[in-house]
Amino acid sequence: MKKLTCALVGFGGIGHHHASRYAHCRNVRLVAICDIDPARLAAAESETNLGGSGALDLSKIRRYASYDALAKAERGRVDMIDLCVPTYEHARLACRALRDGFHVLSEKPMALTLPQCDALLAAARESGRLHMVAQCLRFSPVYETLRAAVRDGRFGALRRLDLRRFGAMPWSKWYYDHRKCGGAVLDLQLHDLDFAVSLLGTPAAIRCEGLRGPSGGWDETASRLRYPGPKAPLVTTEASWLRARFSPGFEAVFEHGYLEYANGTLEAFDERRRPAKLPARKDADMYGLEIDYFADCVRRGVRPERCLPESTRESVRLALLQMKSAARGGAWVKA
Ligand SMILES: NC(=O)c1ccc[n+]([C@@H]2O[C@H](COP(=O)([O-])OP(=O)(O)OC[C@H]3O[C@@H](n4cnc5c(N)ncnc54)[C@H](O)[C@@H]3O)[C@@H](O)[C@H]2O)c1
Repeated sequence: MKKLTCALVGFGGIGHHHASRYAHCRNVRLVAICDIDPARLAAAESETNLGGSGALDLSKIRRYASYDALAKAERGRVDMIDLCVPTYEHARLACRALRDGFHVLSEKPMALTLPQCDALLAAARESGRLHMVAQCLRFSPVYETLRAAVRDGRFGALRRLDLRRFGAMPWSKWYYDHRKCGGAVLDLQLHDLDFAVSLLGTPAAIRCEGLRGPSGGWDETASRLRYPGPKAPLVTTEASWLRARFSPGFEAVFEHGYLEYANGTLEAFDERRRPAKLPARKDADMYGLEIDYFADCVRRGVRPERCLPESTRESVRLALLQMKSAARGGAWVKA
């Protein structure tokens, strides 16, 4: 089967990570990259809180110094754009690319504001092209194991879920302006919020206590999602840009068991807290999986049901409510 072709826009930290995954993708290959910074465009590798991207062979990749130049040369030639530009550029460039006839996989968050999210939904509808926001946890084998345990009830009902994402401040300059990045709430905590909502649905209310940090926004947070009903699980999400190293994780307390993900290891325990078996999971990389999934949707002409744009808009809406709550000293806000 012939692979689709992709051009990646924004060859910075996460751009390099995406680019390094194409060699392993079944459905799509990378043929072009674009960055407005000549040094980034020439760099064969990058280092982020995710680790090193590994060296890339760029010799056969076409390179462009602007989106305009790329669109002019690649329109009708390339199937999809992988958008890895800073958050404040997501809406503008994704709308442009959809209207230029490309399918668009965009890094999270979908956009900084709800009107921008709505403009994106409209651009996808009007262009007839597919758009998906790369909420990578929805493709993570570890988080999918948690989702399966909640769905199949093997440990009974979920009673409590604590999701956290701690790390150091990212180094690109634009992260130091919350109006451009959304602070740790929209940039970092959004991962866990989006996962929780994709698993449990929209909560009835939300609260977030926060400390302002280097972005000028809420960069140290502790949030609660309230679900209605006597048996509803207690759900928290926490995020920080003020730690020494990247350490995502979760704890899930079930009626008859317990799951813990810490230091890159997922463990399960039965109700007597003895190690329990989990179904074997493929240790595939979530970034490669999300790229392949989107390319497969493009190839088959079907909407990306695992991560619909409407659902990622909902996550942005709830993250904005978390910021509203933080600004009110952590008051509950109806969701
Ligand atoms: N899913 C994840 O795990 C994850 C991890 C990190 C970052 N992200 C998201 O990815 C996005 C990029 O983050 P990053 O840390 O890689 O940023 P970065 O600053 O390292 O890289 C962004 C790159 O885009 C380039 N760029 C800026 N404007 C451009 C334009 N108009 N056209 C072409 N190139 C342009 C910059 O020169 C830079 O090289 C952000 O939205 C961030 O939230 C996601």
